[in-house]
Amino acid sequence: MSLLMSLFLVQAAFAGDAEQGEKVAKKCFACHAFAADAPPKAGPNLFGIIGRKTASVEGYAYSNAMQAWGEEGHIWTAEEIDAFIEAPKTVLPGNKMTFAGLKKPEERADLLAYLATLGE
Ligand code: HEC
Repeated sequence: MSLLMSLFLVQAAFAGDAEQGEKVAKKCFACHAFAADAPPKAGPNLFGIIGRKTASVEGYAYSNAMQAWGEEGHIWTAEEIDAFIEAPKTVLPGNKMTFAGLKKPEERADLLAYLATLGE
């Protein structure tokens, strides 16, 4: 990949609109809370998820696949979240997030811009 292309991709991950992203996040609300001290729902709390170690919410029962990924030192960068929410089952087979994926790149970019406002 060319340097220009890499720069473009890094920028694209953060070029979203946080207000739009808050609306996209409603697709996650059924299973995830986003407020600092909110308890887990079906899925773990996503407050401060960007830069957080994978499978690190205490007291939440992760799948073995997700747990193992965290133990390997996997970190949720914006790029990793982007790839995961596009196709959760492909990126991490055996995880228990039953979500088909957000296929539209602009929806993911907006969502990431919103997630970046949490935990600042
Ligand atoms: C139907 C329920 C459901 C929906 C909808 C859902 N998730 Fe999840 N999510 C889960 C579950 C369950 C896990 C734990 C997976 C595991 O342990 O394998 C999870 C895990 C995650 C993780 C890893 C968290 C960690 O602590 O390492 C991220 C990131 C994530 N989800 C993002 C999202 C985003 C963003 C959306 C909305 C676009 C979303 N999820 C929608 C159920 C859901």
